[in-house]
Amino acid sequence: MAVLFLMDSAIGVFDSGVGGTSVWKEIVKLLPNERTIYLADSKNAPYGGKAPKEIVALSIKNTELLLQKGCKLVVVACNTATTNAIDYLRKNYPVPFIGIEPAIKPAALHTKTKKVGILATKGTLSSSLFYNTSKLFAQGIEVIEQDGSGLVQLIEEGNVYTEATKYLLEKYLAPMLNAGIDSLVLGCTHYPYLIPVLRQILPESITILDSSEAVARQTKHILSEKGLLSLGSKATAKHDIYTNHTIEVLKYYVNVPGALVNLLDF
Ligand code: DGL
Repeated sequence: MAVLFLMDSAIGVFDSGVGGTSVWKEIVKLLPNERTIYLADSKNAPYGGKAPKEIVALSIKNTELLLQKGCKLVVVACNTATTNAIDYLRKNYPVPFIGIEPAIKPAALHTKTKKVGILATKGTLSSSLFYNTSKLFAQGIEVIEQDGSGLVQLIEEGNVYTEATKYLLEKYLAPMLNAGIDSLVLGCTHYPYLIPVLRQILPESITILDSSEAVARQTKHILSEKGLLSLGSKATAKHDIYTNHTIEVLKYYVNVPGALVNLLDF
């Protein structure tokens, strides 16, 4: 596939749904002159319980659409897709890929109690990339893992501030709180939208960590290193946001002036 490396091409971003907009917002904040294209594959969400092969196939579909639209770099704004598919994508497509992984390393450096909680999808927690990262960076630290099944669906429905969400979070966090964690890693890009509810449940002493700002910094670093930073301005930086499911829900999460949310079949 021929891809043009044009500085003024867009940064492509995809996720299984609306969650990756938490990463996309950090990218737009740090790189206001860049055009972006975001794909929310909400029709196929959640990815978290799917077989690795299927996650790779869906990641290929999203990547190829972004490349057809001329993107110069692809941000895989989904921990589940990164941990299962980024190696394949990097080997098979000629653009730089930025992935997102749970912030285990920063949490391991930050914890005083040597106990860290991680809330992520089954697909992320069971991936070999996550296993290797944890082994490398969490030596001597007890990592209490929790599969957040059901949370992505609630966020995809726009149901963040509901009793159902609070109930599920209380249930998932109880073993971590009993274990004495002082750091909670959000290992899914949907979960930053749960922070207001999490803060109602967690004592103030517990730090919540997620990787979205780090992904934006890495995106800037790679674009700069490859001479791909846009020469445009904030005024020329268009943001095309696509969903293959419910436009209203995506609009609710995007909520950034100038971003155009569209329905697209992909
Ligand atoms: N935002 C995705 C992630 O970071 C959600 C995965 C899912 O769809 O289950 O893992």
